[in-house]
Amino acid sequence: MLAELACFEQNCRARFPITDAIYNCPECNGLLEVRFTESKLDPESSKRVWRERRTSNQPLDQSGVWRYRELLPFDGQHQHVVSLREGNTPLLDGPRAAQYGGLDRLTFKHQGFNPTGSFKDNGMTCGVTQAVRLHRQRVACVSTGNTSASMAAYASAAGLDPIVFIPHGNISYGKLAQALEYGARTLQVEANFDQILALVRVLADRLGIYLLNSINPFRIEGQKTIIFEMLDQRDWNPPDWIVLPGGNLGNTSAFGKALRELCQFGFIRKVPRLAVIQAEGAAPFYDFVRTRGEFRSVPDPKTLATAIRIGDPVSWPKALHEITASNGVVEKVSEQEIADAKAIIGRCGIGCEPASAATLAGIQKLVRSGVIRASDDVVAVLTGNVLKDPDYIYRYHTGQLTDPEGKTLESRFGNRPVVAPNDADQIAKILEAKI
Ligand code: F0G
Repeated sequence: MLAELACFEQNCRARFPITDAIYNCPECNGLLEVRFTESKLDPESSKRVWRERRTSNQPLDQSGVWRYRELLPFDGQHQHVVSLREGNTPLLDGPRAAQYGGLDRLTFKHQGFNPTGSFKDNGMTCGVTQAVRLHRQRVACVSTGNTSASMAAYASAAGLDPIVFIPHGNISYGKLAQALEYGARTLQVEANFDQILALVRVLADRLGIYLLNSINPFRIEGQKTIIFEMLDQRDWNPPDWIVLPGGNLGNTSAFGKALRELCQFGFIRKVPRLAVIQAEGAAPFYDFVRTRGEFRSVPDPKTLATAIRIGDPVSWPKALHEITASNGVVEKVSEQEIADAKAIIGRCGIGCEPASAATLAGIQKLVRSGVIRASDDVVAVLTGNVLKDPDYIYRYHTGQLTDPEGKTLESRFGNRPVVAPNDADQIAKILEAKI
């Protein structure tokens, strides 16, 4: 559809052409969002077309992002699309996780099935496509790991030059390895995510590099399709709740925008409630929503779920809007709660990275406090693949996982590997012994 960029600040609302390479409003410095300037889209025929595209062999149709292109701001200009067949992620039932969380039933939308193993691919395909449309050769991001892995892959696939900035020593090896393998120039900066983002914004301006953090509105547009696809897979029956982890709050902004647009165009009538879960040591949005005072960043955020180790989330004004519009909630969970929930998701045969497990930990807390009811229909979004952070897994299962304060976490659902001699009798004895 035809679209423009609009300032998100209610008392500014300045508008700019969709091809301006800007990330904040030049007039008031507010966040920018994509706004459609057309209002006609027939929900019934769109639902039918989107379903038919699932059986098509056209690359654009095979992508779980571009399949929904009528609700993306590229208005038929799809010649620049950079796709790695992202999206198409499954809805998985997790009965054991449901029981752990206190629910009758729980479904996971697993974004870890994406080409680079996280939900970032949904947004990055749009962000890099916009970079190509704008003829930008160099693209950059600061990242806790997944954005950099995704950007490196998509930029390289498009023949662009990716530059990634990461907090030195604070991302998992799996993610760092991806950035290197996909050919990004990788700078490990001795600062935290929030500090590096400020730095990169200055550098991007000075060197004419296109910035692909989630402050980039095109990333948010792509991430909307996580919701489109999830509802399509549920025959457009909205759940009661959508639960997701919150870091920089780009995904919260994207999910809320997706739901508002689906309502506006008549695809759904009921809006699911968003539940955003943060790690206790990096929970500025939780504190803010609880107190409704001034937004205060956390100067030194800490969590082993490094993906969400963010103290100054740029998208908080958008996320606040979406939480309010969806009658949503924000919860925070401890390191122990995240680690245990993660092991339970693993035992469902599903698995995820630490930040994603904050969802189940949060569900358990929200069910216990009566906010979510046992009979509610809940979809939790698992944002990253289990193999993103194998070091965390090994430490948890062998009782060596220590929290940021140095305290060893309990290995409540631990599963230690056993060293065995090369001897059938002794191995048989081990296997017959009670665990
Ligand atoms: N889960 C995972 C696995 C992530 O990588 C991130 C963010 C989040 C949740 C939080 O999403 O920022 O939209 O609220 N990772 C970013 C990165 C910051 O650099 O990869 P958010």
